[in-house]
Amino acid sequence: MFRSREPGAVAGAGMISLCSPEVRGNEWQYIKDCLDTGWVSSVGAYVERFERQLADYVGQGDSRSWHGIATVNGTAALHIALLVAGVQPDDEVLVSDLTFIAPANAIRYAGAWPVFIDTEPDYWQMDPARAVDFLDNGCRWANGELRNKTTGRRVSALLPVHILGHPVDMAPLLDAARRYRLAVIEDATESLGARYQGHPVGQLGDIACFSFNGNKLITTGGGGMIVTAEQAWARKARYLTTQAKDDPLEYIHNESGYNYRLTNVQAAMGCAQFEQLDAFIETKLRIAQSYRSAFEKLPGIQVMGEAPWAHSVFWLFTILVNAAEFGMDSRQLLRRFEQEGIQTRPLWQPMHLSPAFDSQKHLPCSIAERLNRDGLSLPCSVGLTKAQQQKVVDVLYRCAQKSLTA
Ligand SMILES: Cc1ncc(COP(=O)(O)O)c(C=O)c1O
Repeated sequence: MFRSREPGAVAGAGMISLCSPEVRGNEWQYIKDCLDTGWVSSVGAYVERFERQLADYVGQGDSRSWHGIATVNGTAALHIALLVAGVQPDDEVLVSDLTFIAPANAIRYAGAWPVFIDTEPDYWQMDPARAVDFLDNGCRWANGELRNKTTGRRVSALLPVHILGHPVDMAPLLDAARRYRLAVIEDATESLGARYQGHPVGQLGDIACFSFNGNKLITTGGGGMIVTAEQAWARKARYLTTQAKDDPLEYIHNESGYNYRLTNVQAAMGCAQFEQLDAFIETKLRIAQSYRSAFEKLPGIQVMGEAPWAHSVFWLFTILVNAAEFGMDSRQLLRRFEQEGIQTRPLWQPMHLSPAFDSQKHLPCSIAERLNRDGLSLPCSVGLTKAQQQKVVDVLYRCAQKSLTA
């Protein structure tokens, strides 16, 4: 059994891991086909098939034609999405404060600056009210452009991140984007299969990105995808991810491109994983439901929720630990789980506190700070057995009793 290589996601032997890949379909067969036929590099039938599968899935119910561009990873997908969306060096891009660092890094790769937007307290996603407040009051409209009043920089895009399997409340963001002519890039890397008001995530903005690293809902080992209905953007993304090749015979390149394409071998794995996506989501929902009913009435524990307008895929099942009520804080609980052979993980350091971005002035983001302090993600691999999940529940209850009797 192989494990996700994401730092912090590798469980020791015998541990109940946080979120491991599930390989039980046609992966071996399709990869063997690549090896047998010699189609191992970044061109091949599996790349085309995987792109088609993802584009059709994201475009479900929409009459436009959808395009998928497979990339080496989700971060590369975000980098290219920002470029094709017209983000220029020294622009500003609004992005979720509580996220894995990749989208903020991608903004810097484009030479732009992230403006971190705090989280709303109910579903832990980018708070649209704060984003709109910044656009309405922290910026000014001049000569057909929106500029940050403090820095003077042009604001050119929104990059909401659908974290932990749950969508961001997109309607107010899309409305503001229309008013201020901003591009909307969805980071849907953690939420493939989630829906917002009935629409699949990835279909809501102008362009979207997915990741298939080892701990994601479906994996190619490492990989990503850009999905968009903007044909010209799709063409540009394909061009930029393939070294901006204008004449492949004479090696003419009219601009600097990137070597960002997914290989056929990885795409073969992606095709096999995609065939199991519905079953994986079903299992995630069952795991989430069991945790939610087990912890519903446990004092000091708040489980992740699901908005009435959302269908979450509960990619990484997360609880908040109220130390005063529970009698133990999230990091003490993490260590207790570790002693019991159970891997858990805190939520990310909010971006506004990250040393990687400490040269910038930031908006206040107190909700993200609280979620970082109290959040703990629990084991929720598709392959998690009922007995393993019961062990997680039992350990949490034992910790609660300890603190109740102390
Ligand atoms: C929110 C978010 N964005 C982007 C990425 C980047 O994806 P990748 O690791 O495939 O580069 C990840 C995960 O790794 C992520 O969680």
